[in-house]
Amino acid sequence: MNKNLDISHEESLKQKRIMDKLSEQIKGKGLKYFVSTFGCQMNAHDSEKLKGILEQIGYVPATEEKDADFVIYNTCCVRENAELKVYGRLGALKNSKKRNPNMLIALCGCMMQQDTVIKEIKRAYRHVDILFGTHNLYKLAELIQTRLDTGKMVIDIWENYKEIVEDLPSIRKYKFKSSVNVMFGCNNFCTYCIVPYVRGRERSRKPEDIMNEIKELVEDGVKEITLLGQNVNSYGKSLDNPITFAELIQEIEKIDGLERIRFMTSHPKDLSDELIEVIGNSKKLCNHIHLPFQSGSTKVLKKMNRRYTKEQYLELVDKIKAVRKNVALTTDIIVGFPGETEEDFMDTIDVVKKVEFDNAFTFLYSVRTGTPAATMENQVPENVAKERFNRLLEVLDEIVHKKACDKVGSTYDVLVEQVNKQNNDLVSGRLESNHLVHFKGNEDLIGKIVPVNIIESKGYYLLGELAE
Ligand code: 5AD
Ligand code: SF4
Repeated sequence: MNKNLDISHEESLKQKRIMDKLSEQIKGKGLKYFVSTFGCQMNAHDSEKLKGILEQIGYVPATEEKDADFVIYNTCCVRENAELKVYGRLGALKNSKKRNPNMLIALCGCMMQQDTVIKEIKRAYRHVDILFGTHNLYKLAELIQTRLDTGKMVIDIWENYKEIVEDLPSIRKYKFKSSVNVMFGCNNFCTYCIVPYVRGRERSRKPEDIMNEIKELVEDGVKEITLLGQNVNSYGKSLDNPITFAELIQEIEKIDGLERIRFMTSHPKDLSDELIEVIGNSKKLCNHIHLPFQSGSTKVLKKMNRRYTKEQYLELVDKIKAVRKNVALTTDIIVGFPGETEEDFMDTIDVVKKVEFDNAFTFLYSVRTGTPAATMENQVPENVAKERFNRLLEVLDEIVHKKACDKVGSTYDVLVEQVNKQNNDLVSGRLESNHLVHFKGNEDLIGKIVPVNIIESKGYYLLGELAE
């Protein structure tokens, strides 16, 4: 066993001991928790681990934040809006804490990795009890213990990660699908992005740890997994025994009982021919690739440090389309990056039209202090960026609707997720393309993969009927 593994194992045992001890104090009292997640899938998955720890020590879920005895915000700092939301909600929590003085409030995640945020919370939000970051969420039980022992605000922010601690409890949102981390952090330093500063350098989990986790999940009823990482295409490079992402997928594919594999996020510059081949041959990879292009202008891409051109992106898309018929493509797009001209923006529109994305996450550029783009010249005025943003949405709307309409008249496998909340006669599920479909059915179908005839498109969702 290498030294790192030793530390990780020790740490995991230590946390389990603390959870056991805390549960003697907390279990059976009906104390409730509420976790709010801001930001991306990585955070959503981290929150499942936080919930796992909280339930292990005896908290039970609250349906509303105001009823909770333990409130935790797992924060995001990718755009300013996400940060403002957290501050707004924190302000409101002051009153809840006045009503329930025993309430504990914890903040964690990406925002906490910034000194300015910690200073601001210490100054203006003294009602917060526990602060920790992205590298040590596995320590939640220990931090709660320290808070209860000392009665003081506990702050534990690490600048870098120490070890990957495996084998902690987790509460999955769905019984039949789950995310699995394959790597953490990012080395790309796109010039607009704060992630490399708050999530640290790239490190990959060992293939055997990933495989074991997936096998356990499958034994527990999981049919679909999403392999998560900021840049999954560079998975494995930092391991003692390097392995590629394509090789990892092929190994995972062998797991019996696992039916669907997804992954995100891919960086176009690292999406190898080897992976394209696997995308072409795989029986379990979903017919959907999320491939952020950010901007269609080669000049802007260079200033973003994305390390591909508009033409290279389009070539990559063609290669993927060539190996996978009707592959669904989704993307991330930033509008209003410093120096973006009307001509640059039209390149973005051009890529959207040429690729015909099934869906896209669109963002107005948001200045992130500490990133190179924050001090670049020619910041785009807000009104210009907003006007472009609206034009982009119009173009996208039309394409997204057209792609959804293309599904009508065909039959697709659908993983049924839940009974429809608005209409109990319907169930809702997802195609491999990730399109949402509602169709007549009951809760017995939940967690099953069934063929569905698509009969109508409503733009952002589909209507169908169970195929015989
Ligand atoms: N401003 C706007 N959008 C951003 N993203 C990352 N940083 C910024 C920023 N400063 C977007 C990118 C990325 C997604 C997760 O968030 O499109 O792919
Ligand atoms: Fe941010 Fe770029 Fe890394 Fe994605 S690849 S997390 S956009 S730095």
